[in-house]
Amino acid sequence: MHITLTVNGKQREADVPSAATLVELLREHLGLVGTKVGCGHGECGACTVLLDGEPVNSCLVFAAQCDGREVTTIEGLRRNGALDRIQNAFVDAGAVQCGFCTPGMIMSAAALLASNPKPSRDEIEEAISGNLCRCTGYVKIVDAVELASAGTVSDRAGSD
Ligand code: FES
Ligand code: FES
Repeated sequence: MHITLTVNGKQREADVPSAATLVELLREHLGLVGTKVGCGHGECGACTVLLDGEPVNSCLVFAAQCDGREVTTIEGLRRNGALDRIQNAFVDAGAVQCGFCTPGMIMSAAALLASNPKPSRDEIEEAISGNLCRCTGYVKIVDAVELASAGTVSDRAGSD
């Protein structure tokens, strides 16, 4: 089926099988491989993206459900070629090891900070509770989101 949607602020079109998931659309049809696939069935949060501003597991959403809607992926957080504050905060806090969970964690954090700019640690833990990390433990990840909310982060250029 043919779908049209807005991805990271740009209108995109694709022909996808009716059973294709949003993460398949992003990675295989649109070349946006920043979004990761871990479990493939809604358990790990690695595939988290924003759908009309709300975090979703993109392995559980059909691409067809996204027709006419707006999707933001990890690639869409950069502004003018620079990493955004949450991405920088994850690096500053040492919250990235293998990095596989990181895009999903950052998208969950982005949704939280958009609605609650100064969350408590409990609120941060709740917001990322659907995102599993097998490497770092969660202390540095929560530290990173706190750092991002405080705005005291380094600036780094992003790359395509
Ligand atoms: S890959 Fe989607 S929740 Fe694990
Ligand atoms: S940094 Fe490896 S899974 Fe989280």
